[in-house]
Amino acid sequence: MLALFLSTITFFIRGKAETIFNLECRLKKKYRIMIKSKGKFIIQKNSDLRVSSYLTKRGSYFNMKSRSKKSEFSINGKRLWDDLMILGEIGRGEDGGVTRISFDQEDVQARKHLLHLLEEADLQPYMDEAGNIFGTIPGKNPDLPEVLIGSHIDTVKSGGRFDGAMGVLMGVEVLRTMKEKGIQPDRTVKVVSLTDEEGARFDYAFVGSTAISGAISPDQLRKDLASAKDKNGISYLEVMKNASIEGGYFTRVNPDSLEKAQFRKDQVKAYIEVHIEQGKVLENKDLGVGVVSGISGGDWADITIIGEAGHAGTIGMAERKDALTAAGECLIAIEKIAAESNGSVATVGKLDVKPGSSNVISGRVDFTLDVRDISDNRRQETVKSIFNSIREVTKNRGLHCEINPMQSVPSVMGSPMVNEAIQESLHELNCPIHHLPSGAAHDAMVMGNLTKIGMIFVRSKNGISHHPDEWSSFEDVELGCEVLFRTTLKLL
Ligand code: GLV
Ligand code: MN
Ligand code: MN
Repeated sequence: MLALFLSTITFFIRGKAETIFNLECRLKKKYRIMIKSKGKFIIQKNSDLRVSSYLTKRGSYFNMKSRSKKSEFSINGKRLWDDLMILGEIGRGEDGGVTRISFDQEDVQARKHLLHLLEEADLQPYMDEAGNIFGTIPGKNPDLPEVLIGSHIDTVKSGGRFDGAMGVLMGVEVLRTMKEKGIQPDRTVKVVSLTDEEGARFDYAFVGSTAISGAISPDQLRKDLASAKDKNGISYLEVMKNASIEGGYFTRVNPDSLEKAQFRKDQVKAYIEVHIEQGKVLENKDLGVGVVSGISGGDWADITIIGEAGHAGTIGMAERKDALTAAGECLIAIEKIAAESNGSVATVGKLDVKPGSSNVISGRVDFTLDVRDISDNRRQETVKSIFNSIREVTKNRGLHCEINPMQSVPSVMGSPMVNEAIQESLHELNCPIHHLPSGAAHDAMVMGNLTKIGMIFVRSKNGISHHPDEWSSFEDVELGCEVLFRTTLKLL
């Protein structure tokens, strides 16, 4: 078996970095090789993914500069970094970007990998009815409200390896470290990988956090999942129903039983999430880690403009009901309204033109709307003005519009209780304390419906995210995890 796979892969030197050199191994189709640690491989059957893993002489990925304070660290930064790089291989494409769309083949593979890590660490893994994956250290007193550490392992199309995955793997590392050190907490602590934070396929996000936090009722969530369809008309509900076919831990996934996934408010003490900043604030301040003051709320909607398709050569300009030019006018109005709101940001990231032919006037345009603001009142005003303006533009042109609000999540502030624990941890590590808001959405904002939340940001290189070049340094990731470890212990 080994000889067979060795004969099908090619190794080549990636370059020298001090005493370390990297080797890249590529294997097309059939098997995925996971490098767990020096000398230890996992080989998984794999259908058609390109595998590209980086090995070094020390069994690590990159040279790690020694840190003056490292001796104070409890967590194992190298183990965490290796986990992050290995998970980042699942769904990695030709452009280096990672694509794991919730419940697709790569996401399922990543879920299995995470479950395996949790099993290895003896963290009593399970998957709930919404597909959320948990690892657990039971507390001495099971009646005390639990502490949850979480994020997500799904990605946008061709995204990075850090967005979401880093927060989940840090949770695993914190629990693993607690076990190794024989720390048995009073209250139960869980790491959770939440289903579909990105909403990349169905334009419906935060599915796992919505299910466990009860942000909307299970009935409403089922209705939303039934009406959220991908570009081929397949509903989210169908996909979730089919997930149990995978067997094993997946058997429990069942949208008909979402009620069982929901936590009671008195069951949870706090939710903590570590995430890459996805901006440049920490980089500009030369800080590895920051405390999130609050997360902007968001509104998401699908808009349809219906005009009349017609021949590009025969229909005069005055007679046209061109859905695309109407959409163009709406887009300019959306930009202007957000710019003049003094705080809201609005984005149209997807636009679909039908019939989509160069010699046919457009009969229908569908586009998405994404509005964010730290102020809920201002965001609601912005959304209202945008909807009115779309109605006005289409009416003036004699066209029709359909406006379907998809999701609305209020902004949430970091809880003083959690933020104090983060600050204290930073203080212990002689790190400056800097607060910054999050413009990006996170599961933590939905978890705010259930419990007190807190977020720790890790510096992003050049602020790049949702992109193959997304990067954070080993040192910053290690520091972020140590801060998480200390914060968690203070809350237990
Ligand atoms: C999540 O990645 C977002 O859309 O902010
Ligand atoms: Mn993201
Ligand atoms: Mn994320």
